[in-house]
Amino acid sequence: MNARVEKALNDQIKMEASSSQFYLAMASWAETKGLNGTAQFMYMHSDEERFHMLKLVKFVNERGGTASIPGLDNPPSEFDSLTNVFTLLLEHELQVTDSINNLVDVCLQEKDYTTHNFVQWYVSEQLEEEALARTILDKVNMIGEDKAGLYMFDRDLENSAIQGATVSDAGGNA
Ligand code: FEO
Repeated sequence: MNARVEKALNDQIKMEASSSQFYLAMASWAETKGLNGTAQFMYMHSDEERFHMLKLVKFVNERGGTASIPGLDNPPSEFDSLTNVFTLLLEHELQVTDSINNLVDVCLQEKDYTTHNFVQWYVSEQLEEEALARTILDKVNMIGEDKAGLYMFDRDLENSAIQGATVSDAGGNA
């Protein structure tokens, strides 16, 4: 495997692993605050990021490279508010998109069209994840400090997490 492509893929493995830990920290924080819907949503999102990481690990190894399993910095354990959590989620996803775009660039520069093809799945995934993060942040910003609104928001997220889990269990998009 081309060394630059391998390095960019391994950087992406670390990015997805740290995304998974970051969202796990958000899930745990939300659970301790009684925000069960947000917690379920974030636990599920954390699992998805782990799946994104594993898909890369397997691809690198199958293509004759060596996947590097990274150590990770501690994610934050405290968040100011739901607005803070979902602002950080969107900011983080934008960083992931930059990283995927860099990976696409490297594939094209090195003429590695097989990896380029593989990475297109992540390009589409980022479109969806950014759109979802923006939609949720818009809702949270609209609700502001309204307690009844926050209760409904958290319940809606719980329902969407349950629906998402059902789709995944049925073999849908992970
Ligand atoms: Fe795998 Fe949310 O980026």
